[in-house]
Amino acid sequence: MPTAHEIVAEWRRRKSSHRWCPNERTEKQQIFADVTAREALFGGAAGGGKSDELLRSALDYVDRPGYAALLLRRTNPELTAPGGLISRAHEWLSGTAARWNGKTNQYTFPSGAVLQFGHIQHLKDIYIYQGAEYQFIGFDELTQFLERMWTYLGSRLRRLEGVDVPLRMRGATNPGGIGHKWVYDRFVNPKTCGDRVFIPSLLEDNPHLDQQAYEESLAELDPITYQQLRLGKWVQDTTGLVYNYSSANDVDALPREDGWIYVLSIDLGASESKPTTAFCVLAFHRHEEAVYCLESYKKAGMIPSTIAEHIKALQLNYGGLERIVMDTGALGKGYQGEFQQRYGLPVEAAEKTNKLGYRKLLNGDLARKRLLLIDSANSDLIEELETLPWNELGTDNEKGFDNHCSDALLYGWRAARHYLATDEPPAPEPGTSEHLAMEQRAIKKRRLEQIKKEDHPWQMKRRRRRR
Ligand SMILES: Nc1ncnc2c1ncn2[C@@H]1O[C@H](COP(=O)(O)OP(=O)(O)OP(=O)(O)O)[C@@H](O)[C@H]1O
Ligand SMILES: [Mg+2]
Repeated sequence: MPTAHEIVAEWRRRKSSHRWCPNERTEKQQIFADVTAREALFGGAAGGGKSDELLRSALDYVDRPGYAALLLRRTNPELTAPGGLISRAHEWLSGTAARWNGKTNQYTFPSGAVLQFGHIQHLKDIYIYQGAEYQFIGFDELTQFLERMWTYLGSRLRRLEGVDVPLRMRGATNPGGIGHKWVYDRFVNPKTCGDRVFIPSLLEDNPHLDQQAYEESLAELDPITYQQLRLGKWVQDTTGLVYNYSSANDVDALPREDGWIYVLSIDLGASESKPTTAFCVLAFHRHEEAVYCLESYKKAGMIPSTIAEHIKALQLNYGGLERIVMDTGALGKGYQGEFQQRYGLPVEAAEKTNKLGYRKLLNGDLARKRLLLIDSANSDLIEELETLPWNELGTDNEKGFDNHCSDALLYGWRAARHYLATDEPPAPEPGTSEHLAMEQRAIKKRRLEQIKKEDHPWQMKRRRRRR
């Protein structure tokens, strides 16, 4: 039984946490907050309120002089992104007595306590925290970290002289990711977790989220990621490959003749000797759910003039390209301007935000056969899709592996609008004027094709003149 003093202290602690946070804890967040073990994980489905609670837990003791808490993400952009931990902390703490220092990324409270934000991108970055002492260390998206990062930071967990503050290492994460296995063994697997605590989190645990809208967006994911993010299941993508491609995504030809809309995507590379500039042509249709990758390949030693010529040839070949998207990275920006101004080509910058999230959606399209490849014309791409592994950082930039064609595929797939496909309108009834117009169009089309085949001398002349 806790003593009266302990009950009052606990009541003060909870009250003080609310002083710095505008929201009440959900039931599940309260359970996680009440864990007294040194190491605990709040894990499972997306949207359950894990990151929220990590921040709130870090604030629990900020009224105690000398208290220090550290919140970590793997990379700095993840930390500072809109909706990330820092912007959430600003929402809660701006206008309070807590003071933000953007140089050191930390809040200082009137008691002198600090809440610091940091990242550990590479293993050597753990030494940034050498000599530091914290009573709370929280890792958000723990499966993006290496186990050695967690254990080393654990050595920075020290009790304050004479101050009764618990020592807490806390993780929040979805299953999956490069650290899936060690996190599972350390916290979830009952045979190996020891006295570490795992609190499962589900979408249903968070009444503050529009669950139906969230559910609908999660339903677009590939089956493995769906199980991880929607159901919080600790299933791992055993292949270790970035893309979900299989031969079930191969087709011989487009399923119908006309009505196709074409997209060209380009990933630029500067190498003279290695084929690093990738081209990818995709086709989508108003009445087809799938997008088709018609051809893809990579070339070496491309310069703006040869790329422009190549684009023009493809424009001619496909009878027009609805969109041309290009990776405008360091090299691309100047190129893009040159294509537009000098060659009159309407090249757009490829969408590159949230690459990881969109790749999961692309994998969803691969799994549902809503992304199909004409296999005879995509061998460079297929080789990449079949071999490209995740690297340690959870990105696709593993040394020794190419991602030029697969990047071009991602840009082109994002630019295609196959997902807006609607059902075909019903055919008009025979005898109606619509039916008659349809018949006339078909006759005209057949006649045109016949003329093309016959290659009339007048037509050859016209073609020659056009050239
Ligand atoms: N106790 C709460 N009161 C009000 N809003 C909350 C609460 N907990 C979470 N939310 C809100 O619900 C949304 C999802 O919460 P959060 O980002 O913490 O979930 P998550 O489990 O970390 O999700 P993910 O798996 O995507 O990282 C956020 O907009 C957050 O602000
Ligand atoms: Mg989160």
